[in-house]
Amino acid sequence: MVAWTPSSWREKPITQDVTYPDAADHARVVRKLKHLPPLVSTQEIDSLAEQMADVAAGKAFLLQGGDCAELFDYCSETPIEHKLSLILIMSLILLNGAHIPIVRIMRIAGQYAKPRSKPTEMVDMPDDNGQTVKKEVLSFRGDNVNGYDMTERAPDPDRLVAAYFHSAATLNYIRTLLSSGFADLHKPLEWSFSYVRNPELQKQFENVVENLQDRLEFMKVATGGAGGSERGGTRTVNIFTSHEALLLEYEEAFTRSSGFVGPSVSAPTSRPTTPGPSRSASIARGERSPASSGVLPPKRYYNTSAHFIWIGDRTRQLDGAHIEYFRGIANPIGVKVGPGMQPDELVRMLDILNPDRVPGKVTLISRYGAAKVDEYLPAHIDAVKATDHVVVWQCDPMHGNTKTSTADASLKTRHFSDVMHEITRAFEIHREKGTVLGGIHLELTGELNDEGYSVTECIGGSMELEDKDLSLNYRTHCDPRLNYEQSLDVAFQVSDYLAAAKKGRKPRDLFKAARQ
Ligand code: PEP
Ligand code: CO
Repeated sequence: MVAWTPSSWREKPITQDVTYPDAADHARVVRKLKHLPPLVSTQEIDSLAEQMADVAAGKAFLLQGGDCAELFDYCSETPIEHKLSLILIMSLILLNGAHIPIVRIMRIAGQYAKPRSKPTEMVDMPDDNGQTVKKEVLSFRGDNVNGYDMTERAPDPDRLVAAYFHSAATLNYIRTLLSSGFADLHKPLEWSFSYVRNPELQKQFENVVENLQDRLEFMKVATGGAGGSERGGTRTVNIFTSHEALLLEYEEAFTRSSGFVGPSVSAPTSRPTTPGPSRSASIARGERSPASSGVLPPKRYYNTSAHFIWIGDRTRQLDGAHIEYFRGIANPIGVKVGPGMQPDELVRMLDILNPDRVPGKVTLISRYGAAKVDEYLPAHIDAVKATDHVVVWQCDPMHGNTKTSTADASLKTRHFSDVMHEITRAFEIHREKGTVLGGIHLELTGELNDEGYSVTECIGGSMELEDKDLSLNYRTHCDPRLNYEQSLDVAFQVSDYLAAAKKGRKPRDLFKAARQ
């Protein structure tokens, strides 16, 4: 194996690459990106790495969610508030049932690039005589590559710089909201929950908040005022960012060997055994102290464009550029695992990505589909169990469950019951195998239209959205997302499941519940 450097991926075959019309222009942009400051700090990344080790050990639960494809347009006050409040509300619902810290990672502040199954698509366009004809255009690859509009499909490198600044502005507003008390448990009912029209959901959430507030009061009394300090609990609200690291030139430009306060201080393996003191709401701050040995730790490289990055199911070739890049960075990383992954390939991949066997370093994001999870997940679990790798198992119940609307063949959709079925089976299969399903990975949005209605992209859930309703407020430019209510439905059902499992009761069949 060749020595790793932030650019050694360039020696490997790459999939889903973008070809820019002007190489010199692209090189100018990459120089600019290398000059720009990191978006997140190495200390924050180390803090997430510690928490992921807890998830791998079953001591915390991971909630990851956001858009399939973020658009530059989403970088605006209200959409960011809605997304943040949705993740916070879901995490409180999960915390209430799971009784363990919830690690929150959003697909936000950089989730722009999209892998595509076909590089081009046929679209209807007017010809010179005003007649509609079919034309072949490049597929939309995400706002950091080209535009959704048919006239903007040529890749433009300046979009990479625009992606950085939109990520920075989004992240800045999230940090601002959190540091101004947005996540304060004493006001969650003020979050955009008032948009949820279902009174039953409203009531359930009020109960959750009451319950958590009581628990907080109890903790205060019981601990003499230091209550609620558990990491990822109610007082310590941390939000981490993530995206699919598809465009490696961009990722390489933000690969830095130290944080803003000096050299990186410790490896994720040397974790404190007890949670630190109570922290205020924040984008998670690293709180590690320099190693006391006096010996400088070896240089470590971090991807500072997000706390957590993942490799998509289409770009995870063992000898490919993406695996090469990922094997050298210190961040916690994810890999999408679909039906095409062979069990022995999975093990070889873990050996490459995590040679030091850091617990929780790699998250396996399984995404088989409701109809296939029983066929593929058990063999993947067995293969990993036979090694000394300690991974985070996460279920993405979205990407194997994409279907076409029967009412309108141009719309992609997902059925809530398929989503719940895949989650349920993942929980059950892990229970049978003695492993832990550590988290869920969802495509969701708190986005509302001008009348305050949620999007209509997935079918089912407590609001009983039907196929014929999809066109009412269908807004995604990529995959269909769970809307506000459907996301809360998932959170309530998973929370119930975790609560029952904790008490040793047989958990409710989530799939059956989803169909009722
Ligand atoms: C995604 O998460 O948006 C995605 C494209 O997933 P996958 O790589 O699993 O298809
Ligand atoms: Co998607």
